[in-house]
Amino acid sequence: MGLKIIGTGRVLPSKAVSNDELAVMIDTNDEWITTRTGIKNRYICTTETLTDLAESASRMALGKANLSASEIDMIICPTLGGDYVMPSLACCVAQRLGIACNAFDINAACSGFVYGLEIAENFLSSGKYRNILIVSADIISRLVDWRDRSTCVLFGDGAAACVVTQGDAVKYICNKSEPKTELLYAKSRDGNNPFTSQTADGGYVNMQGQEVYEFAVRAVEREILDALDTVQMQAADVNFFLLHQANSRIIKAVKSKMKLSAEKFPINIDRYANTTAATIPILLDEMLEDGKIAPGDVLVLVGFGAGMTIGTSVIVWE
Ligand code: ACO
Repeated sequence: MGLKIIGTGRVLPSKAVSNDELAVMIDTNDEWITTRTGIKNRYICTTETLTDLAESASRMALGKANLSASEIDMIICPTLGGDYVMPSLACCVAQRLGIACNAFDINAACSGFVYGLEIAENFLSSGKYRNILIVSADIISRLVDWRDRSTCVLFGDGAAACVVTQGDAVKYICNKSEPKTELLYAKSRDGNNPFTSQTADGGYVNMQGQEVYEFAVRAVEREILDALDTVQMQAADVNFFLLHQANSRIIKAVKSKMKLSAEKFPINIDRYANTTAATIPILLDEMLEDGKIAPGDVLVLVGFGAGMTIGTSVIVWE
């Protein structure tokens, strides 16, 4: 179908924040966070910029792909927003890497990585591009309200990059959205335009947690079944389902509904929390580093996030 992943890299900020540390700041506790979400720890940017994380992850991915930066002809950054509203994070990464190429950001919230894969696949299919860097990166700690215990405990910062090139690994990609924008949002800032009434709410993450949970469990199972039906595979043929790490209970609920074993649903949310668009490529990079993925393995990737967006891909690892 036109794409394979040839190098991955991940970077987390240096500061780890445990549930116990959060319990000192807000009315929460390790037991609540662990049992409701599976999260024990997250990494939060203190001195690092998003461009720092994205650049480092990109250099790691390039190293594993055995490519120099000059061989990249496009950078796509799935992100909720870079260090600047403009220029894009992708342009900042291009500058750090010292390359002049097609570079732009996309925002599909936590589905961003799978959206990025489909966009890259189309550009690769055009024959005009050879190697594309997809850098999923977010500092969501800038967007959460640290006084709101129902959201701030769920997220962490991070970045992960993948180099993709022409190949036949991706057998299926489908990206969709369902019109449920009110379930999860962070408003844009108003600025100080004197000609409009000011309605700023701080631009913090606002989430209807239970509705998001129900959407996720329902939509993820449906999209996996649609994907497998299209590629004429059974769930038993799949080695790993790499689901967006938003809550371990969502992942376990999908596993139970599909009557599959826990080994097929790797989880690392305990260490990183929800790093938005970066969760899937961070997990992929870890699994590759640990030697858990071999050529021929079938992977199903599913991202879901604000929109509500949902993106699904079936990959036979090359
Ligand atoms: N610590 C202690 N208590 C808390 C906390 C906290 N951090 N947060 C909420 N509570 C309390 C609530 O106030 C409530 O108390 P009450 O019963 O006295 O009113 C109680 O815990 C239960 O709250 P609920 O919101 O009903 O808890 P729920 O079981 O639904 O779990 C959660 C909340 C974890 C957010 C869950 O709904 C969820 O995971 N939803 C999906 C979230 C998600 O996936 N988001 C991101 C997806 S997309 C993306 O990644 C951008």
